[in-house]
Amino acid sequence: MLSYQHAYHAGNAADLHKHALLAWMLDYLTVKPKPLSYLETHAGRALYDLAGPEALRTGEAEAGITRALARGWLAVDHPLARAIAATRAQHGATAYPGSPMIAAHLLRRTDPIHLAELHPAEAEALNRTMGRRAHVHLEDGFAMANRLAPPEPRRGLLLIDPSWEVKADYARMPAFVDRIARKWNVGVIALWYPLLAEARHAEMLDSLAAAHPDALRHELAFPPAREGHGMIGSGMFVVNPPYGLAEEAARLTACIA
Ligand SMILES: C[S@@+](CC[C@H](N)C(=O)[O-])C[C@H]1O[C@@H](n2cnc3c(N)ncnc32)[C@H](O)[C@@H]1O
Repeated sequence: MLSYQHAYHAGNAADLHKHALLAWMLDYLTVKPKPLSYLETHAGRALYDLAGPEALRTGEAEAGITRALARGWLAVDHPLARAIAATRAQHGATAYPGSPMIAAHLLRRTDPIHLAELHPAEAEALNRTMGRRAHVHLEDGFAMANRLAPPEPRRGLLLIDPSWEVKADYARMPAFVDRIARKWNVGVIALWYPLLAEARHAEMLDSLAAAHPDALRHELAFPPAREGHGMIGSGMFVVNPPYGLAEEAARLTACIA
């Protein structure tokens, strides 16, 4: 049973980190006119309302995207700021794009998008929002990525953004990433993970870093959203990182610090 719902956490500090790096990478990859594929294993519903009851109940976006926009951490022409502006122009001033919608705004109409979402209600909402722009797969995201890698066109990016509800995901992740990287050696593979007080991610990261020494590992520490909340930061591990990603990551660190 999946109980995680991203609507409670949309736009929080972890989303800011993940979405700023994702948007930067997609923007970089579209500088060349060559087509690319976008795959996502854990897509969510793609569209959130920061004034909706779920977001207001946690207030997590305040320390994330709301603060980033108020303090100018994202220039108006930053790809994430552009994706947010385009989403708000279509869906209202408090709308916030999930990763599939960020991709849809930054990619060309002809770049294929494949999204896996296992929760039936989230998948239905995702389907409604993305319409014909994306292939929505109501299936396990690991299975979808294994089936589709390497995609056509081969240039492209896979985002792996689990809710980490299934503790076995930590143990299975290194072998999953290795397998995809072997099958799709030119693909950019971006894995998001939480920094938890009990450091549950540490062993997984040791294995990933040993197998992919040229990958980028970027971690941002931030105060827990609430007293006693286990997440104390956000991490991205990127295999085949685009040139310049480390500088963008360092810029984010400097803003948030
Ligand atoms: C962290 S949220 C995704 C947020 C989204 N990537 C974003 O940034 O906007 C994780 C999503 O994965 C879904 N999920 C959980 N296990 C899954 C699986 N094995 N395959 C596909 N989706 C899964 C959950 O229902 C949830 O909607």
